[in-house]
Amino acid sequence: MVRTWEQAWGEALYGEAGFYRRPEGPAGHFATSAQGPAADLLAGALLELARRESLTTIVDVACGRGELLGSLAAQADPSVRLVGVDVVDRPADLPKRIEWVRSPGGAELPDLDSPAQALVLAHEWLDVVPCPIAEADEDGVLRTVLVDEDGIETLGGPLPDEDRAWSDTRWPGPRASGDRVEVGRTRDAAFDALVARTGSGLVVAIDYGHTVAARPTAGTLIGFAEGSACPPVPDGSCDVTAHVAMDSLGADELRTQRDLLRELGVDGARPPLELASTDPARYLAGLAAASHASALTGSGAGDFLWALRRVG
Ligand SMILES: C[S@@+](CC[C@H](N)C(=O)[O-])C[C@H]1O[C@@H](n2cnc3c(N)ncnc32)[C@H](O)[C@@H]1O
Repeated sequence: MVRTWEQAWGEALYGEAGFYRRPEGPAGHFATSAQGPAADLLAGALLELARRESLTTIVDVACGRGELLGSLAAQADPSVRLVGVDVVDRPADLPKRIEWVRSPGGAELPDLDSPAQALVLAHEWLDVVPCPIAEADEDGVLRTVLVDEDGIETLGGPLPDEDRAWSDTRWPGPRASGDRVEVGRTRDAAFDALVARTGSGLVVAIDYGHTVAARPTAGTLIGFAEGSACPPVPDGSCDVTAHVAMDSLGADELRTQRDLLRELGVDGARPPLELASTDPARYLAGLAAASHASALTGSGAGDFLWALRRVG
């Protein structure tokens, strides 16, 4: 069956047999900063952000199986409320203090009960919110890309008005034949919906993305499965993801992860060498922390963009 990428992608990830409903969860297929060895350091930085902003609830939307929340639970004062949101039932091994809300998936969100004084996070959510894919034909006119369940693409009709309007303003041409646009209208709306579900506090979307100064004209749509990148086939066998037009989200602030984490105290400094003989255990722990800090702030994860919007 041939469908738009937006339709096929949504079904492949969030349909009844969708990729993200599998028991192994995202961590069974790829590593992120939120569930790898650097997650404890990221959690510490988020708690520092919450402290500076006087926020007492942390909601992790698109939290996988709650890996980052586990790190937060180990470090946070018991008075901090922790809530996980994802498309499956509450994982059995989650620490008791973590609340859980099940979500429909993709651009759709559940009622979050308008949390107040909340840090509402979405780490690598928007890149898996399906969006229309467009490609310029030989006249440079953008057309909707259609796809079948084997991942074979064909060009459909000219873009619907709302996708064309988004592309003209947020991802402007000129366009050569074959240039792609990943129409971020659906991600903008999803971010707005998350803001609307927040009573007061700070909403933060963290993702790999781009800004209008450097849109990726070849497109970024790709699949991931079992630890490797693969062709994006919308049949539920792999993740399907595309970078996010982060400057289109309407954030109050857009920061690189590198800059923001440094501001929050993640500096990556190595421990002094003399500590190796006076306190070897502390020295080794310091070395591990420095290496995790480099993983979070070096090229790659350090280039992730944080879109911050204040609410209330
Ligand atoms: C790339 S994984 C990121 C997981 C985790 N945040 C991390 O960084 O390791 C994307 C996650 O978003 C979840 N997701 C997608 N749409 C969602 C929605 N509307 N509500 C809640 N979770 C969603 C998926 O089920 C999946 O667990």
